[in-house]
Amino acid sequence: MARHLITSALPYINGIKHLGNMVGSMLPADVYARFLRQTGREALYICATDEHGTPAELAAKEAGLPVDTFCAQQHDAQKAIYDGFGLSFDYFGRSSSPENREITQHFARQLQKNGFIEERAIRQVYSLADGRFLPDRYIVGTCPHCGYDKARGDQCENCTRVLDPTDLIDARSAISGSSDLEVRETKHLFLLQSKLQGEVEAWIDEHGKDWPVLASSIARKWLTEGLNDRAITRDLDWGVPVPADTWPELAAEGKVFYVWFDAPVEYIGATKEWADQDPANRDWKSWWYEAEDVRYTQFMAKDNVPFHTVMFPATELGTREPWKTVDYVKAFNWLTYYGGKFSTSQKRGIFTDAALEVLPADYWRYFLIANAPESDDSSFTWEHFAATVNKDLADTLGNFVNRVLSFSRKRFGDEVPAGLEEGEAEAQLGHQIAELLAEYERHMEELQFRKAAQALRALWSAGNSYLETKAPWLEIKTNPEGAALTLRTAMNLIHLYAIVSEPFIPASAAAMRSAFQLEADNATWVTQDEARSLTFVPAGTPFTVPPVLFAKITEDDLAAYRERFGGGEETAV
Ligand code: 2FM
Ligand code: ZN
Repeated sequence: MARHLITSALPYINGIKHLGNMVGSMLPADVYARFLRQTGREALYICATDEHGTPAELAAKEAGLPVDTFCAQQHDAQKAIYDGFGLSFDYFGRSSSPENREITQHFARQLQKNGFIEERAIRQVYSLADGRFLPDRYIVGTCPHCGYDKARGDQCENCTRVLDPTDLIDARSAISGSSDLEVRETKHLFLLQSKLQGEVEAWIDEHGKDWPVLASSIARKWLTEGLNDRAITRDLDWGVPVPADTWPELAAEGKVFYVWFDAPVEYIGATKEWADQDPANRDWKSWWYEAEDVRYTQFMAKDNVPFHTVMFPATELGTREPWKTVDYVKAFNWLTYYGGKFSTSQKRGIFTDAALEVLPADYWRYFLIANAPESDDSSFTWEHFAATVNKDLADTLGNFVNRVLSFSRKRFGDEVPAGLEEGEAEAQLGHQIAELLAEYERHMEELQFRKAAQALRALWSAGNSYLETKAPWLEIKTNPEGAALTLRTAMNLIHLYAIVSEPFIPASAAAMRSAFQLEADNATWVTQDEARSLTFVPAGTPFTVPPVLFAKITEDDLAAYRERFGGGEETAV
């Protein structure tokens, strides 16, 4: 059986992420990792903060902190939020780690040895006012492709095209705003991607066959446009240094690798960080090197696809060593805020820290995954969010759980009631549940998150329909034994919901599971037979009634949220 390696795009260290970042990478990766673990597969979910480059330097400068102090603080701040969201990383590392430095330098040496790196003198933008070169985000200007006037030197946020600082029109320094710029010569290392074009094409032909269209189409578009040789070093203070044993002159000049060179290597680096915490029991290399039994799935938003499907594979292939390359790329479109952009730089939309201040993680997890921007962009509105929470979580799931447990306790006491044997209605219900469960599992295996959410919702609805049809609150008057059977069956559904809802809403799932004092209180997945027979929780099992699982969002709440976050007045950016 394959071991599953899962990574989600490494969040930049430069600030707290918004819900769009969350739904496009870490959250679906977590849902998938949880599902795999519950269904008995070995899964390793690795992520980290992406700490190098101009975004980190600029944000540290704004915060008035040395960049290493800033990164350490921001790493902890992001980690605390991800814990709050219930993200079950096996390890959440830091790209500034010694492990990543070592592996990044190793990659560079290998690429050099194999003739894929060349030193070139290039002309770079130099700011006279700032007394320094202005790589990447240190320079802003108008995108030559789409005309966006806040394009950065490395990439245009609007049209996602990768840029060179010298491409920008009306360029100015992001540090001082000065346009007193000149072009000077400086030496840098170039990755000769053009030499690897054919190999990457063959690799995508072989590996990209089953990727979602979003990922494979972006990869192919890049290949069609042709792979250019790219500078992989920068004149910056903060980053993985160029190794002096291989490039003494550049090392002496203080060159560091470009953030996009060391960031994907940190998937490996963070796995080593994980292993270094418990070396006797963890073998990082077995996940990455000659790892034929590993299935590797990456999660990311669409702007990251070129780096993961073309550039990083080119880097890995160029080492001529058997590093694990990605098997499946799960890419996402954008989540918008009332049709406009969520924007870190412009502080528009809902940020992950604020989201947790307002409501528990499960509310967000469920909504975001049920509306994941898989085949198209999807829009967040407070109205849609409230309607979904109220209908699916509060009415369909939460109300079912509280109603069944409260009513049973009132009528039959603190243990699951005995009553009649299962009859025709229960057999039909079991059949329906088993079918819906199979559908849910299929969508989860295929990483179709919206469809999986629909199937999960259908499982919850099936319980409601059963309860409405049997109406134990009426049944109790004429047939108490029958009412006991109905409630016992419904309690078994609650236990099933606790297990199968865990990937989406782990905290609420744990609350549901802990309602029953079962000896083996684990969250191991449900078999088809168990789903059909619905006998997890036998008569006589003690139970408690958990506090209300999901509070409804009221009109007053909605008004307060709109007031705090803005209700979409500024749309369509
Ligand atoms: O776009 C981003 O947020 C980047 N920090 C993603 C890096 S993914 C990986 F390759 F490190
Ligand atoms: Zn553009």
